[in-house]
Amino acid sequence: MKELAFYDGRIIDPKEPVIRVNDRAYQFGDGVYEAWMVDRGRQILRPEHLARFERSAAALGIVPTTTTEQIGGWADALVDQSGVANGMLYFQWSRGWQFPRNHVPTPDLKPVLSGFIKVRQRIEVPRPFSVVFHSDERQSFCHIKTLNLLGSVRAITAAAADGYDDALLVRPVDGQDVVTEGTRSNAFAVKNGTLFTAPLGPYLLPGITRAKILELATDLGIPVVEGYQSPDFFAQADEVFYTSCTALDPVVRIGSVTIGSGKPGPVFEKLYRAYGRFIASA
Ligand code: PDD
Repeated sequence: MKELAFYDGRIIDPKEPVIRVNDRAYQFGDGVYEAWMVDRGRQILRPEHLARFERSAAALGIVPTTTTEQIGGWADALVDQSGVANGMLYFQWSRGWQFPRNHVPTPDLKPVLSGFIKVRQRIEVPRPFSVVFHSDERQSFCHIKTLNLLGSVRAITAAAADGYDDALLVRPVDGQDVVTEGTRSNAFAVKNGTLFTAPLGPYLLPGITRAKILELATDLGIPVVEGYQSPDFFAQADEVFYTSCTALDPVVRIGSVTIGSGKPGPVFEKLYRAYGRFIASA
C-alpha cells in the first residue's frame, strides 16, 4: 500500500514538488475542493460529491477542463494503484496560475486539478469528542466548498490548543448568535428525540453526509428540524454530533459542559448504525 497524489493529469508521489508559485489556489485560496470516503475499497457517495464539486467550481466561475467521469477515473486509479482500502480521496481545482500576480484573474486561465488518496482507519467504535464554542469568523459563502479555510484553521487551532477536538462555530444571524457547523463537519443536536441542524444557506456547507443522515433519520421516524439554534440550545441538548464524509463524531462535551450522559447518545447510536448499514451496502 502506498499513498499517492495526482497533479495535472499525472499520478505522482505525494512528496513530489509540483505546485507553481503563482498558482492562485496557493496565493489566494482561489479554488474549490472535494473529499469523499473510501471504505473497504468502495467510494462512498461519489456522484453526490462530484456533483457538488461541479457546483462549487461553477459558483466561482471556474470552468473545469475535465469531466466528472474523468475525475472518477483518476479516483479509481488512485484507489487501485495505492492499494488504500480505507481512506479519503481529495481533489481540488485551482483557478489556474498567473504571472505576474494580480488579484483579478485573467480570463485565459487554465484550471489545475490536483488531489491525493490518504489512509484513514475505519472507525469501528466512535471516539467520544469534546468541542468548544468559537465565533464563526469564516467567510459569508460557506456553502461553496472553497479553499479559503483560514477561519476554520484558526478556530480548530485555538480549540486544539485548549485540548478540544474541534470547535462549534457561532455567528450572528439576524441579530442572534446561532450555531452554524463544525470547522470541517456539520453539527447536529438532539432534544427530546428531535434532530436539529442549521438550515442550508450561506453559512454552512451543504454536507453530503448531512443530507444522508437527514434521509436516514426520516426513514427511522426521527423528527427533523432544519433551523438555527443558539449556543445555549446546543449546550443543553441531550445529544450533539458532527458529520462529515470521513466520520460521525459524537460530541460529549462543549467547553466545560457535559452533553447528556457524557457518552454517545441513543439517537446518535441509531443513526451511526443506520449509516454503517448504508456504507456496507453502498
Ligand atoms: N470537510 N462543513 C465543513 C465546513 C466541511 O469542511 C465539511 C467536510 C463538512 C461535511 O461535508 P461532507 O459530509 O460532504 O463531507 C461540513 C472535509 C471532509 C474536509 O475538509 O476534510
